[in-house]
Amino acid sequence: MSNGRIDVKKWLFLSFALLLSLMLAACSDSSENTSSTANSGSGGEEKKEFLIGMSQANLGEPWRVAMNDQIQAAADEHPELKVVFADAAQDNSKQIADVENFIQQKVDLLIISPNEAKPLTAVVKKAYDAGIPVIVLDRKVEGDAYTQYIGGDNKLIGKKAGEYVAKVLGEKGGKVVEIKGLEGSTPQQERHDGFLEGISSNPNVKVIASQNADWLRDKAITVMENILQANKDINVVYGHNDPAAEGAYIAAKNAGREKEMIFIGIDGLPTPDGGLKAVMEGRLSATYIYPTGGKEAIESAIKILLDKEEVEKTVILDTIEVTKDNAEQVYRQFGGK
Ligand code: FRU
Repeated sequence: MSNGRIDVKKWLFLSFALLLSLMLAACSDSSENTSSTANSGSGGEEKKEFLIGMSQANLGEPWRVAMNDQIQAAADEHPELKVVFADAAQDNSKQIADVENFIQQKVDLLIISPNEAKPLTAVVKKAYDAGIPVIVLDRKVEGDAYTQYIGGDNKLIGKKAGEYVAKVLGEKGGKVVEIKGLEGSTPQQERHDGFLEGISSNPNVKVIASQNADWLRDKAITVMENILQANKDINVVYGHNDPAAEGAYIAAKNAGREKEMIFIGIDGLPTPDGGLKAVMEGRLSATYIYPTGGKEAIESAIKILLDKEEVEKTVILDTIEVTKDNAEQVYRQFGGK
């Protein structure tokens, strides 16, 4: 029957139309997935763009500006990554709100350098529990509800500084002033504990004053002014960071006493106003490289988001003891200008 021939044609046409509509449906499905799959990578098509939220404790300090710059520079190498930055201005509540905001925005990954450990622990856990990979940088939170911690070994750095002081002062020892970082931030405690361990080999080294300057140069100037008034005899100032040591130096210089003592810091930024130059120019006697971990954080983000790899829980970054003997070489090594 002629009807039979028409049916075959009709059948072929219908099959073709069905195939075409299936193909179109598949295409539009995958394009939707590209912009909306969750970061878990489970099931859906490959995601092409990733949003990283970076919660910075405070941008008022050069070391933190360097950290953000390194994150941005490393991310710029990967067009798939977009980083949005938030500055908590040393305010725990603001940083909690910043992280809440990133959780609401459903960022694909969170990098955080927490202002203080305890107050930030819950919100970091909240992000982590919401399935957002979390990289904690430099300062720690409590517990282990995060994906990875990256930072220097602050206890070791403090210990090296203590050993340096014990060696420089020699057997007869001397009097040390400690200008500490922000009370609730973990490097503060670790740099303090390590230092005491480092000087313990020399019982004649005495810490005669230990006060907080919250990592800030200007605060260190005021703190040191008071310490200078109360103490006629000081041999060493140990600042928990270079701005603290430089602030103490300014106060001592204003009092005409900077030559009576030596100044030691931590950070060693390779910038015109950083610690390496301060050693080269003779204001600081020593500093310790404390890498920001910005580049390493982006390397981990790539592993987690693009390569879908597991990362180690903890990455510890190396330090270098810098004195006038190696300051210039280290400055060049870190691309100082
Ligand atoms: C900047 C800073 C650095 C210091 C680090 C410790 O905020 O104070 O100078 O090494 O934080 O967390």
